[in-house]
Amino acid sequence: MIDADQLGKFGVERSKIAVLGLGHVGLPTALGLAELGWEVLGADDDTEKVALLRSGKSWFYEPGLQSLLTKHLASGKFQPTHEVAAAIRGASVLFVCVGTPQRESGAPDLSQVEAVARTIAQNLNGYKLIIEKSTVPAITGQWIKRIIERHARAEAPLRSANGTGATPDFDVASNPEFLQEGKAVEDFFHPDRVVLGVDSERARRLLEEIYRPLECPILVTTVSTAELIKHAANAFLSTKISFINMISDVCEAVGADVEEVARGLGLDPRIGPDFLRAGIGFGGYCFPKDLRALIYLAEEHGVDCAMLREVEHINQRRIELFLRKMRKALWVLQGKTIAVLGLAFKPNTDDVREAPSLKVVEALTQEGVILRLYDPQAASGAQKLFPERPSRLTYCSSPYEAALGAHALLILTEWDEFGRLDWTQIHEAMETRIVVDGRNLFEPSRMFEAGFEYWSVGRVSAQPTSQREGQAETLQLEGRGRR
Ligand code: UDX
Repeated sequence: MIDADQLGKFGVERSKIAVLGLGHVGLPTALGLAELGWEVLGADDDTEKVALLRSGKSWFYEPGLQSLLTKHLASGKFQPTHEVAAAIRGASVLFVCVGTPQRESGAPDLSQVEAVARTIAQNLNGYKLIIEKSTVPAITGQWIKRIIERHARAEAPLRSANGTGATPDFDVASNPEFLQEGKAVEDFFHPDRVVLGVDSERARRLLEEIYRPLECPILVTTVSTAELIKHAANAFLSTKISFINMISDVCEAVGADVEEVARGLGLDPRIGPDFLRAGIGFGGYCFPKDLRALIYLAEEHGVDCAMLREVEHINQRRIELFLRKMRKALWVLQGKTIAVLGLAFKPNTDDVREAPSLKVVEALTQEGVILRLYDPQAASGAQKLFPERPSRLTYCSSPYEAALGAHALLILTEWDEFGRLDWTQIHEAMETRIVVDGRNLFEPSRMFEAGFEYWSVGRVSAQPTSQREGQAETLQLEGRGRR
């Protein structure tokens, strides 16, 4: 798919791309580019991660990723390496996908980006297009440029001697990622849009060439604008979620149904149906951190961002409101056995970073609750934070095992398999049949009919229509399926 003549026109001889950082963004990007026909050097200084990838195993779960890894290790189009400098020297196009974690102050920690910029400066053996893929605050591109120029000056005599030119030849571009965990591979090949922040014709044409096979709108803009688009997009989506969560509280107060309200809202094309799922709040590596970073950036420039602070505040309160609901359902929590279904911050991932479910687990641990936890993929990640404690906290191998002897069952992540549970088995396993669903997976009326007391978010809670303990029919409730 790569047009070598086109590349030649841009002064790029090698059809090689280096992806620097093989995390949740870098690895799908690297394998996606390999699938598009590029030779990709995937560099990460974490030797364990690289060794695992070389042995053919992805170090995290992401649908479709493992098969791409197997395919492109075999084809030779993806070469994982821990030698970052060598990868930089071996390619003309460099995607920067290193982490930008949050600091105590809320500001993003850009030390990994700076370190990569320095390494690039020390290895400028010809033209380089440096593409920021990690989410970074506006004007980071300008900093990368400045750092490279500064450090490259020190290397100038060396470049003159080896004939690569005394003046560093490079462009910095921003190409923010919009990959959602759990569908990162699909998002790579079918993006809603590609945003290219460039300040040179060469960078624009080269990036357009890379994304040419993907049929989607391409927005070309300045580097700072592209950087801000990413933060604005995540802040807006977070705002939608906090908005519907706030509405769900009003629904509970007045006896309305938040699922119907969301449907009614979403039918208006100006609003749209997505990201209106009420629940226990947003988590994950991106939304909380990116919202914080935008607040920090705005405040640093004297911009009033009280609205975004409220979005954050509403989100932080979701856990307390969920616990309040549990107390309404169970009265005393201490000493109760609670089954928890779902530990990942969202379905189809094993990622537990900033997972609202783990905040619930933490609070329940402090309340002296006996926990029986289950997640199809995220148990080992959760175990690092909440290790097993005999007769206090147990990881189970199925939802049914988790439900054994439970006084209540919580649904905290909307995995598809939870929509297909055999509720007869759950009914038999539980001590008292109370379900507190933080993700609105089921129709309340169906759960009541099945003999469960069912509490959900932004909807009326009620008792079972008949108490049928010990005589449940074979029940297989279809999950509602989330929009
Ligand atoms: C997000 C952005 O969507 C993606 O474009 C960006 O590149 C990275 O950050 P991700 O963190 O993978 O992706 O998850 P996303 O699907 O956006 O969900 C984030 C959180 O919001 C999850 O905890 C999810 O459960 C929650 N959420 C999402 C809701 O509570 N309600 C919704 O309606 C949607």
